[in-house]
Amino acid sequence: MILQIQNLEEYQQVYQRSVADPEAFWAEMADSFVWKKKWDRVLDWDFRTPKVEWFSGGQLNITENCLDRHLESRGDQVAILWEPNDPEGETVRYTYRELHAAVCRAANALKANGIGKGDRVCFYMPMVPELAIAVLACARIGAIHSVVFAGFSATALADRVKDATCKMIICSDYNSRGAKNIPVKKVVDEAMDMGCDSVTRVIVHRNTGGEVAWNDRVDRWWHEEVDGQSSDCPAETMEAEDELFILYTSGSTGKPKGVVHTCGGYMVYTCFSFKNVFQYQDGDVYWCTADIGWITGHSYIVYGPLLAGATTLMFEGVPTFPDAGRFWQICEKHQVNQFYTAPTAIRALMARGDEWVEKYDLSSLKVIGSGGEPINEEAWNWYNEKVGKGQAPIVDTWWQTETGGIMITPLPGITDTKPCFAAYPMPGIQPVLMNADGQEIEGNDVEGLLCIKFPWPSMIRTTWGDHDRCRNVYFSAFADKYFTGDGARRDAEGRLRIIGRVDDVINVSGHRMGTAEVENAINQHGHVVESAVVGYPHDIKGQGIYAYVIADRTDAEPLRREILEVVTKEIGPIAKPDKIQIVPGLPKTRSGKIMRRILRKIASGDTGNLGDVSTLLNPEVVEAVKEGAV
Ligand code: WT7
Repeated sequence: MILQIQNLEEYQQVYQRSVADPEAFWAEMADSFVWKKKWDRVLDWDFRTPKVEWFSGGQLNITENCLDRHLESRGDQVAILWEPNDPEGETVRYTYRELHAAVCRAANALKANGIGKGDRVCFYMPMVPELAIAVLACARIGAIHSVVFAGFSATALADRVKDATCKMIICSDYNSRGAKNIPVKKVVDEAMDMGCDSVTRVIVHRNTGGEVAWNDRVDRWWHEEVDGQSSDCPAETMEAEDELFILYTSGSTGKPKGVVHTCGGYMVYTCFSFKNVFQYQDGDVYWCTADIGWITGHSYIVYGPLLAGATTLMFEGVPTFPDAGRFWQICEKHQVNQFYTAPTAIRALMARGDEWVEKYDLSSLKVIGSGGEPINEEAWNWYNEKVGKGQAPIVDTWWQTETGGIMITPLPGITDTKPCFAAYPMPGIQPVLMNADGQEIEGNDVEGLLCIKFPWPSMIRTTWGDHDRCRNVYFSAFADKYFTGDGARRDAEGRLRIIGRVDDVINVSGHRMGTAEVENAINQHGHVVESAVVGYPHDIKGQGIYAYVIADRTDAEPLRREILEVVTKEIGPIAKPDKIQIVPGLPKTRSGKIMRRILRKIASGDTGNLGDVSTLLNPEVVEAVKEGAV
């Protein structure tokens, strides 16, 4: 089994060792996995290209490590524990043996439908066990999965399918979420009509059993394709640097980019980080509330826990259905030991009052985690007192889609915790703070731009189809460093606090969004002339979306409604602006750049001191924008 750090002294020793000789350290970690062929070289890298290769020459299949490896020692242990949306519904359990068989059947079905190594398969599914099964089935045969969160629109789905030229889409008929039954196949049909010509098969999992339209040429039922298949499927031999998956995420410019992760390094790092951050012990029940449509679900619902032989709980529903006690009811019901969620959920549940959390016995909880966005002190304290009862340490985990795994976090019971601080780097992670001139800021009690100065196994390898973009976005701001896009502060004792994005990326309810992406969507409205989108502080969501819009119509109310519709159609409901202000103009510099600094201030209600606006091209609009603020 992979190293699990036990105490502070060991953390310090391991950290020192991992930095002094990273290759020796990661070779040792990698040794605890099943390799079909051992690697020739641990690490080869050059951030200028960027080129990052871990364990090259090594051959493996990640599913042998998630499944086959456990059959002898824990074949009858529950691997996936699935809790349905409806609390009256039946819990579904897959033991490691059953999961192995299910994955093999699905893998054989993929092969029978023409999918092979290197082909891209897109997923558009709710949180049902079949999603995890089919993702693993792709990995089993060397197909590259690209999971798209099922809240995205048909347009967003089609964009992603086309970018990766996916050969197949796997979806469900409907999605049960809270009181709603949301059509899923219908969205896929719409996407297919938008020119997804590379797709030759749509596999439809029957979830709720509602009516769906059918296209005989491409559509096939999951059960008809999968059920009769053999439960034995040899695992494809993968090179360590073969692609495992693509996951789209938003950046500061243009359309979302496909972050590419590869087999070997991702396997080593997600397992190592899972075991250490959550201090998982045999027999524990671990629950991460994320959706598999995001990186958190990939790394810490599916791969990390299964690699570690854990029991991972998967929840179909939402935190507030049928009531605000649902999370805690599930924790009590399944005696959850490690619970991992996002600050937005914590704030939303905190706002509903303490009675919901006090109703349930949460004494099984040993570790509680937070991640995806900054957690404010009030939410941290509530989580600590009401959920953890002061007994379960909070791990505030900082990481990104691009980092593949948790990078900066306390280790529970091992390092100290402090509200709002992600605190300490994981072994092998070398964070640095930089100033705008490209110099490293040393010492404590300082603030700067967060970079990582040495490769780690699960880092981004490229952006799908556009390697230059990967270099430009992450490796060109600072020489020989990976730039995160976040600002951070180091306190007097050396703990790190993530302040938030320094680029035009906003984080709304833990969902990452590019302001340019939302603007592009708004601009699709025929009567919008120009728009500017910024984030503003929001009590529950962390950040809300504030849109300033110039239009050639004056009926503000209908216009707002239509803009919301356009954004829902272009991206999805998660990108709908919370506030839309129709403005006569946008403050611009003489070179025509929108002054977002001013717009951010106005959006946050801080209009007292906007700084010097006299050098603007159009200083007179500032007053008008200020006055019309919503
Ligand atoms: C961005 C990455 C669950 C993490 C995976 C989400 C912000 C993430 C924290 C944290 C403050 C955080 C950063 C980062 N972020 N974790 N613990 N404290 N901010 O990955 O969707 O790619 O978002 O989320 O701004 O850059 P993601």
